[in-house]
Amino acid sequence: MGKENLRYQAIVNQIRETQLTQPRILDLGCGYGALNDYLSQEDYSHFLGVDFSSNAIQRANDAQYPNATFEVVDIHQFYPKETFDIIIFNEVLYYLEDQMDIVNRFSTYFNAKGFFIFSFYGGREDLVHELEEKFQLIHKETVKQTDGVLWNVCLYKI
Ligand SMILES: C[S@@+](CC[C@H](N)C(=O)[O-])C[C@H]1O[C@@H](n2cnc3c(N)ncnc32)[C@H](O)[C@@H]1O
Repeated sequence: MGKENLRYQAIVNQIRETQLTQPRILDLGCGYGALNDYLSQEDYSHFLGVDFSSNAIQRANDAQYPNATFEVVDIHQFYPKETFDIIIFNEVLYYLEDQMDIVNRFSTYFNAKGFFIFSFYGGREDLVHELEEKFQLIHKETVKQTDGVLWNVCLYKI
């Protein structure tokens, strides 16, 4: 496992903390699917990962994770045709334009009980608090990589 394994494990722990049975998960800016290496089949019924890097999505699809599909899309132009229980922004929010508008838009794609999970390189307490003004912060875990970099991994209920 790489130096960032604690961040991925914290996300998996928060998925399990929701106590949702076999949730449907959307991972926005999923990259090549690194998170999926930490998930087990019991953690979700369907996993959709999207990223605008076709190379990353090719690699994710090649890995053939069970019940997981991966699509090349730009998050700014992505309007899902389905709803989810958990939506993840893992080290991606600050790469987007109009960040809070995007978060608000994706908050309309939840089933009855919805949760967001965010990870922030360097902590980004400013974003943690900005999101807390809109959603209920259930759990914030601060993890430290082996190279000393801090991450905040946050679970919010909508
Ligand atoms: C730092 S990587 C994180 C990847 C993955 N979430 C992880 O933590 O392993 C950021 C990812 O966001 C993707 N990304 C950035 N802006 C995007 C956008 N507008 N639409 C889709 N993907 C985007 C990049 O291609 C990249 O894979």
